Amino acid sequence: MKSVLKPHLRSLLLIFLTSTGTAWAQDTTQVDVYKSPSCGCCGKWLEHLQQNGFQASIHEVNDIPAARKKLGMPDRLGACHTARVGDYVIEGHVSAADIQRLLKEKPKALGLAVPSMPLGSPGMETTKPVPYETLLVQTDGSTQVFAKH
Ligand code: CU
Ligand code: CU
Repeated sequence: MKSVLKPHLRSLLLIFLTSTGTAWAQDTTQVDVYKSPSCGCCGKWLEHLQQNGFQASIHEVNDIPAARKKLGMPDRLGACHTARVGDYVIEGHVSAADIQRLLKEKPKALGLAVPSMPLGSPGMETTKPVPYETLLVQTDGSTQVFAKH
């Protein structure tokens, strides 16, 4: 179905849903997602987060590298979307469980990244998954393995 809502009406609706949502959904986690309007796997990753208790504010942007740069995530760790959860930056197809662990452990870091969209990561479902790592990223761009999948 083609959307009948004009973009500005859609954002009004989003604000309405967001503000009413906070009243009763105390244990949801807010995530700000920067994605391009045409990205299919971004939408699937969003669904994965929403199914795991995240509440998303979606920012449709055409220049993902610019959004990534603004949030301080190095380009070489880039994927298809970038996001903010609390004080952390989340790059690419990071699992909800990894984000929840990050928020619980609160390490000193810029955030998490799953570079270059590995097959089998959340939103990249396939019958042929590949092993991949979630990286903990520091503000200087250095990384260490946060989780292996
Ligand atoms: Cu993707
Ligand atoms: Cu994406």
